[in-house]
Amino acid sequence: MSRVESLISRMTLTEKLGQLTMTACGQAVTGPTIAGDSTEAIKSGAIGNLLNLVGTENVREMQDLAVKESRLGIPLLIGYDVIHGHRILFPIPLGEAASFDPEFWASSAREAAKEAAADGLAMTFAPMLDVTRDPRWGRIAEGPGEDPLVGARMAEAKVRGFQGADLGEADALAACAKHYCAYGCVTAGRDYAPVDISDRTLHEVHMVPFAAAVSAGVAAIMPAFTDLNGVPMTANKALLRDWLRGRLGFDGVVISDYNAIAELIRHGVAADLAEAAALALKAGVDIDMMADAYRHGLPIALQRGAVSVADIDQSVRRVLILKERLGLFEDPYRRGKVEELPAARTNRRRLARQIAARSIVMFKNEGDVLPIAPVARRLAVIGPLANASAEMRGVWWGAAAPEGHVTVLEGLRSAFPQAEILHSEGVEIESADFSGIAASVDSCAAADAIILCLGEAAVMSGEASSRAHLGLPGIQRRLAEAVFERAQRSATPVIVILFSGRPLVVPWLVERAGAVLAAWFLGSEAGNAIADVLTGHVSPSGRTPVTWPRAVGQVPIFFSERSGGRPFNAQDKFTTKYLDVVNEPLFPFGFGLTYGRFEHSNLRLSSSAVGVNDAISIQVDVTNRGAREAQETVFLFAHDKVASVSRPTLELKGFGKISLAPGESGTVTLSLRARELCFLDMQLEPVFEPGEVEILVGPSADRTQLLAATIQLVASGPSGSNQ
Ligand code: NOJ
Repeated sequence: MSRVESLISRMTLTEKLGQLTMTACGQAVTGPTIAGDSTEAIKSGAIGNLLNLVGTENVREMQDLAVKESRLGIPLLIGYDVIHGHRILFPIPLGEAASFDPEFWASSAREAAKEAAADGLAMTFAPMLDVTRDPRWGRIAEGPGEDPLVGARMAEAKVRGFQGADLGEADALAACAKHYCAYGCVTAGRDYAPVDISDRTLHEVHMVPFAAAVSAGVAAIMPAFTDLNGVPMTANKALLRDWLRGRLGFDGVVISDYNAIAELIRHGVAADLAEAAALALKAGVDIDMMADAYRHGLPIALQRGAVSVADIDQSVRRVLILKERLGLFEDPYRRGKVEELPAARTNRRRLARQIAARSIVMFKNEGDVLPIAPVARRLAVIGPLANASAEMRGVWWGAAAPEGHVTVLEGLRSAFPQAEILHSEGVEIESADFSGIAASVDSCAAADAIILCLGEAAVMSGEASSRAHLGLPGIQRRLAEAVFERAQRSATPVIVILFSGRPLVVPWLVERAGAVLAAWFLGSEAGNAIADVLTGHVSPSGRTPVTWPRAVGQVPIFFSERSGGRPFNAQDKFTTKYLDVVNEPLFPFGFGLTYGRFEHSNLRLSSSAVGVNDAISIQVDVTNRGAREAQETVFLFAHDKVASVSRPTLELKGFGKISLAPGESGTVTLSLRARELCFLDMQLEPVFEPGEVEILVGPSADRTQLLAATIQLVASGPSGSNQ
């Protein structure tokens, strides 16, 4: 009998339910203050998994209780939210998505895993794969942005990075893809609100990154807090058991979100904890995070006949198999044993700086005010985010201390050692105190450039951080306007560094600034990365992974809309538009400037007709007509103009990059499997429909900038299949 089966055969009900329970240790960052009764519960086998516990010593202490003092000695699975780094932070996921570089996505996860594993952890509650088209929702900061393909690529890269080649390695973490599914569609962008979307949108958009995570071998999945069309995801048998496990073939562990099983009562689908526990277990949720519903509710549910011992055993089996795959039975302390050398940390910081610089999106650079000339003698660095170390961390800072994250001021001081750098806050992020504005305005006198650091606080995005107004918080606009006015008199360039966990609605700011950089929250090396771009050491190359609206009323706004029967026409009132704002966003998906100037030409396809099993190679020539070396990102879209189901006018099918010196030309080759041109038919089954498909290639989702060609999809020969 295998170890797992032999354990199951010897376990009491309490011990089994312990393996299905995950409990938090409070004060993760300052040490374990696990409640006394939890200590006893670990010893008695009634708690088998922990979250929010970090530090090798702390982990060892708790692991000892389970391994040495519990009857069966089953090691604990210890998880933590290692989202974009553990102690050294990389950009928040939305920011890192802007790099459009899957190797970066994987390598930051690899580094985070190494660091967290060295701290004794074995699981991360990441990657977050919720596609969203609503920047009011604060959790947009934690994920890939608006596009399912980007989400899928990110899913693959992150799972590879966190889990490494083998989950049993001492530096591997089990990844937990979350929040399954469609959490990004909360009503009106309000966190935790119900989700009501079509099955088509669910499967075409929101399910895509999760399917990719499953194919990549993700160890765990966390259902969303929310309901979907009336069925809470934590009890959603159709989507967890039938779809995720049945159709997608997921055989890992499903972990509930924090207290989510008990919240089934609030959702109004369970009358008491026992019923809630039975619903979740039956739906396929293996581990109960923080609700204590399995421990206290399942024994009653058993008595009621609502669940069987076999149901419980099945979940216990999955949890024990995961512990086995993680190598915890061989050596429960293996992770904390790996001591990290200082060189590992230096390299990690270097990578964090590189990725952060590549995640910055330059929205404007009028008159080439950037890069700042190396001879600059005086710089005014203004704003509440100019010297804010803790804010640079962004949402989910893991075990990172508030200090030690390079600020813009610090980055500029090291980049311009000879220059006089005048720093003033002007205003606080959210306060209404005007008293500092005058001093900031005065500091602009005789400056060669003004660097204005504005935006949100780190905690204004993330969980429970929805916003209805997407402008600058507090009175930052007043500060900005005063600075613009002063700068205009002396024709001093104003460079705005915008920090946020979401797109902000700031058309006025973009109009008045000389240059605008979206800096998201870039992590521990934020200031150095920003300085690298400001000095021209790095040409900005980030592209926004989400559309930036120009008015909150345009939300939800995204590039892959269907045309509808009355597509926009400026000459015709009865077409889709607003009376008071244009349809165009402030910045489309994929937009971002560089220090080069790229031209795309000569789009060509390897064949003009393809069957479902064929692959197409798509090439475009790119020339850098600018005066500086830069990296261009090229996007590949498709549009199926006539199909049995109306298709979006643009669907992202790929992206690629090329770096070119001034005057240099090169070719970007993107490959596409014809199968990726399948779509879901009226029954939501994939279909490859013969006919013409438009292939569009270019620098962003702005259709006017795209080169187009067409390809014929043809039915395969007698031996081929149309699926
Ligand atoms: C709640 C969040 O929704 C989830 O993303 C996170 O992993 C858990 N809390 C654990 O901290």
